[in-house]
Amino acid sequence: MKVYKTVAGLQRHLNELRQKGAQIGFVPTMGALHDGHLSLVKRCLNENNICVVSIFVNPTQFNNKTDLEKYPRNLERDINLLKSVGCNVVFAPSVKQIYPKVDKRQFDFGPLDKVMEGTYRPGHFNGVAQVVSRLFDIVAPKKAYFGEKDFQQLAIIREMVKQYHIPVEIIGCPIVREKDGMALSSRNERLSADERKRAVKISQTLFKSVEMAKSHSVDEVKKWVIDTINEEAILEVEYYEIVNSLTMQSVNSWNDCDNITGCITVYCGEVRLIDNIQYK
Ligand code: PAJ
Repeated sequence: MKVYKTVAGLQRHLNELRQKGAQIGFVPTMGALHDGHLSLVKRCLNENNICVVSIFVNPTQFNNKTDLEKYPRNLERDINLLKSVGCNVVFAPSVKQIYPKVDKRQFDFGPLDKVMEGTYRPGHFNGVAQVVSRLFDIVAPKKAYFGEKDFQQLAIIREMVKQYHIPVEIIGCPIVREKDGMALSSRNERLSADERKRAVKISQTLFKSVEMAKSHSVDEVKKWVIDTINEEAILEVEYYEIVNSLTMQSVNSWNDCDNITGCITVYCGEVRLIDNIQYK
């Protein structure tokens, strides 16, 4: 496995591989890797000759300075994990490599980013679009892999690729969960043992709500999910929205569209956790 810290070094290597006919797949990450990330890497390895993983904690997508500072970083451990699953190339650039000068681009995703994460983390998706478009430019992959864990992010990336005619196929991959149902996240590392135990209520409530949806209205399910999670003193729901899976806009009835997803953000103590569940 090769590790590159510069754009020039990485591109020299990837161009050689491409000349030999290799198809390049790409998994962008911010590191602190877990089995959720590794599931994307494995899928990428299955569907391409070469898997490139980027590890870059992108400052432009953090609207909260403490969150950026506290984001877990452990490059050596990440590199070993990637080696163990057979990843071919790691790109771990500095901020200067990604942003040689300040990125002033403003993206417009219409209604997609005016809701949920877009409301509570202003500028977040603009930063995600900046870094992902820059990384696509550098790596020029045939396919790129993203988790459904970040459900709205996946929709935004699909929209960006469409708007800018970027020749990359976007592949969405299912959420990987712990045995108890908790969605894997780099942020889980910041939970105390007690917080972690209580945080399982988030996914458990979402799972139960799928049953409930068979006999209750959207509003009833929404209220029940929020109230049930908030019963746990350490948990505080920031939002729970039941949305059209393509447009991210709230639905009023289960018959509004073909695919419906519930997207949640919950504070567990100081740690902000997200999850989602598909109703249909
Ligand atoms: P990060 O949070 O490191 O996630 C990298 C990728 O792993 C994302 O596509 C995310 O959805 C996926 N992922 C995280 N947890 C997962 C889980 N439990 N199951 C399945 N997939 C999971 O998302 C980002 O980084 C950044 O915003 C990035 C796209 C790299 C841009 O900076």
